[in-house]
Amino acid sequence: MIRFPAFRTSRIALLPLLTLAACSSEQEPADLAYGTVQQMMANEVQPTADVYWGAVRFESRLEPDGSVTEEEFEPKTDAEWEQVAEAARKLQSFAVELQTQGYAEGRGEDWLVFAKGLDDVSKKAEQAALDKDPDAVFEVGGTVYNVCSACHQMYPPAELETAAGDAQSS
Ligand code: HEC
Repeated sequence: MIRFPAFRTSRIALLPLLTLAACSSEQEPADLAYGTVQQMMANEVQPTADVYWGAVRFESRLEPDGSVTEEEFEPKTDAEWEQVAEAARKLQSFAVELQTQGYAEGRGEDWLVFAKGLDDVSKKAEQAALDKDPDAVFEVGGTVYNVCSACHQMYPPAELETAAGDAQSS
């Protein structure tokens, strides 16, 4: 069962990568729609997933008197719901792109399975947004996160383990 602290941890773990990435520019094959996988993840996939994950969220605040207030956020207007659906559609198109030769070449069979998995879960994510169902958006958001993590476990971002180690105590 994934809850938001897991998302927070992952974001903390991944942030240092953005800085490191700037120093390690390798070759950029011209036929890749979003640049290297690393660039695509950092510039497109993560920001888009953040839009989806941020749409329905809980925040707790410590009041001056020591009590804790829980606040729930969810989209209110049609336009806000549409942004969530749009984020899910973008994740689908990234998933499709990851399955193309340019991104899949040299990877194992499981690469396609993970990419297909992202496509499938992003479709469910879109449906939840079209249904304007906050609970479903929250739940499917957790599944999206699991799919991201599954691929990263097999194809770990270069600095992920170090960064995760550093962030563990925070
Ligand atoms: C099909 C496999 C796959 C899926 C699915 C996947 N990723 Fe990645 N991701 C990678 C690979 C491979 C890297 C490492 C790229 C590198 O460092 O060369 C990576 C790296 C990253 C990075 C680090 C980028 C950087 O600056 O170094 C972030 C952030 C990221 N992914 C976010 C996500 C999110 C969010 C999702 C789910 C919505 C996701 N990824 C789904 C394969 C995947």
